[in-house]
Amino acid sequence: MTDKYCVIGNPIAQSRSPQIHAVFAAQTGQDISYERCLAPVDDFAGTIGRLVAEGYKGANVTVPFKIEAAQIATRLSERGRAAGAVNTLAFRDGEIYADNTDGAGLIADIVRNAGVPLAGKRVLMLGAGGAARGAVLPILTEGPRELVIANRTRATAEALAAQFEGRVAVCDFADIDAPFDVIINATSASLAAAVPPLPPLAFCPDTLAFDMMYAKDPTVFMEFAAAHGAKVRDGLGMLVEQAAEAFALWRGVRPGTEQLLKELRSKL
Ligand SMILES: NC(=O)c1ccc[n+]([C@@H]2O[C@H](COP(=O)([O-])OP(=O)(O)OC[C@H]3O[C@@H](n4cnc5c(N)ncnc54)[C@H](OP(=O)(O)O)[C@@H]3O)[C@@H](O)[C@H]2O)c1
Repeated sequence: MTDKYCVIGNPIAQSRSPQIHAVFAAQTGQDISYERCLAPVDDFAGTIGRLVAEGYKGANVTVPFKIEAAQIATRLSERGRAAGAVNTLAFRDGEIYADNTDGAGLIADIVRNAGVPLAGKRVLMLGAGGAARGAVLPILTEGPRELVIANRTRATAEALAAQFEGRVAVCDFADIDAPFDVIINATSASLAAAVPPLPPLAFCPDTLAFDMMYAKDPTVFMEFAAAHGAKVRDGLGMLVEQAAEAFALWRGVRPGTEQLLKELRSKL
């Protein structure tokens, strides 16, 4: 029997997840269906109840439900707990297991796809919202020399760093006075064609400047970073890798991502 999955959000029409999971299923020979599910903003829990009753095996979760999804889980992964937000649910044996695969997707794309290890590196993360929260534990697990968070609202960055007991530092954009090896833009500033006010000396020719956002053309952050000599990368690979991680969690088989990433890139 075909196992049913979906992605839940509001809005949801923009989601590329059905296309991605259809490719993974064909590639691995898994018999699954995967559709979009528009949940009312005030009834995420009711939507989950309906999906479970209808026999769904799992779901991805996107804006604005990632925090609520962590709260309704009956069991949370360590990285889901660290993030306080999840993007993947598995409905098994009467329980709702919840995980956050966004950070793992980020790491897979930077370390494996881009070939930039984080071990021993100075890493700067811009932003302290949902995407940043999901990234901190997976970045720390890679063993960077330093992880610094800079956020427009400093108090939000401090609250996030405080969860990690001295392993994460916080600074203001203006305080940055030396280049970082990797700079991850986890703000939504690029959506508004804005660049966080980073001093140019944050970048050097060896810096990888990674924007979690992706579009047909380089984002304004990528253009800014490239103009100051950095190598740049957008978030399309992260999107595909977080989906592969969710697929592996559900199906116990890890799909390849290289070809799909090329196809998605060519269709942006
Ligand atoms: N590629 C992927 O798979 C993937 C996955 C998840 C998210 N994302 C992307 O990651 C980005 C962040 O998403 P999110 O869910 O974390 O959003 P969010 O929870 O709304 O957080 C937004 C963050 O951006 C900061 N910010 C917003 N506008 C800014 C500006 N003009 N200048 C400086 N900082 C600004 C906010 O700072 P304050 O605290 O001061 O408000 C906050 O830290 C989005 O572009 C999203 O598309 C990509």
